[in-house]
Amino acid sequence: MGTAVDRFDDKARGLFDRIGTNDVYQGELLRHRPYTRFLHWMVALFFFLALFSGFGIYLPWLFRWFTPIFGGGALARSMHPWFGVGFCFFFGLQVLNWLEPMLWSKADTEWIRGLKNHVLKPEKLEPTETGFFNAGQKVQFWEITIGSVVFLITGIILWIGAGTFGRITVAVSYVLHDISALVMLFGIFIHMYLSTFGQPGTFHSMTRGSVAESWAWTFHPSWYKQVTGRDPRQAHEEARRQMETGRR
Ligand code: HEM
Repeated sequence: MGTAVDRFDDKARGLFDRIGTNDVYQGELLRHRPYTRFLHWMVALFFFLALFSGFGIYLPWLFRWFTPIFGGGALARSMHPWFGVGFCFFFGLQVLNWLEPMLWSKADTEWIRGLKNHVLKPEKLEPTETGFFNAGQKVQFWEITIGSVVFLITGIILWIGAGTFGRITVAVSYVLHDISALVMLFGIFIHMYLSTFGQPGTFHSMTRGSVAESWAWTFHPSWYKQVTGRDPRQAHEEARRQMETGRR
């Protein structure tokens, strides 16, 4: 299975490299290639289209003002399932693309164990073993993966309706569909905060594709070491000393 997926991903990455660009300037590292960025923003687009059309349909007394965006309530209702299918399709491709860096490791278990300390006494630098993605990102990724499967199954049941699946299955599907949406939405708020203001420099990785080396040794030291061969703590110490010298 691995090789067929790898071959598919390699082909897609190669194709998008020809269409997009990978500009990396001095002091930067390439983090996300055009294929990854394209999938990420298609996932985000369909997520918000499904979210806004969904809110307008299921809580009309509160979110009625969303439905004109889609041409009215009836159109929003008929387009919502297709937005959901688009979301699951692109996220499914992203799962194949990110399968390897999202696999759980021993370092991730340690990261989770240290989470309480991390939140209470935030250190500037992530633990040295933190790789391409940290354990928090991996938890969220797998939550979205499971959530997408729940969306797809319950969404199809709701789409086809009680005539085929029965009223109880449809009622249970409503509840699971909504719980999945709320859990994912809560996670996405945290994700949007961390990707922008929470960890400055991260957003760049999903627009131009690159990050500053200082970002890499701060948030993903083990990945920094893997791509540069340099020790992340030493690089940080040298940069700090250079800054102090420059200040005098
Ligand atoms: C519109 C607001 C969003 C912004 C600003 C944003 C930004 C980013 C950035 C900058 C990264 C790269 C992080 C890194 O390289 O470490 C990323 C990764 C990721 N994004 Fe988004 N994203 C948004 C919406 C979404 C949505 C709607 C989803 C899915 C429902 C999503 C799923 C992911 C996943 C799974 C990752 C990889 C793991 C992680 O960094 O958490 N993103 N995003």
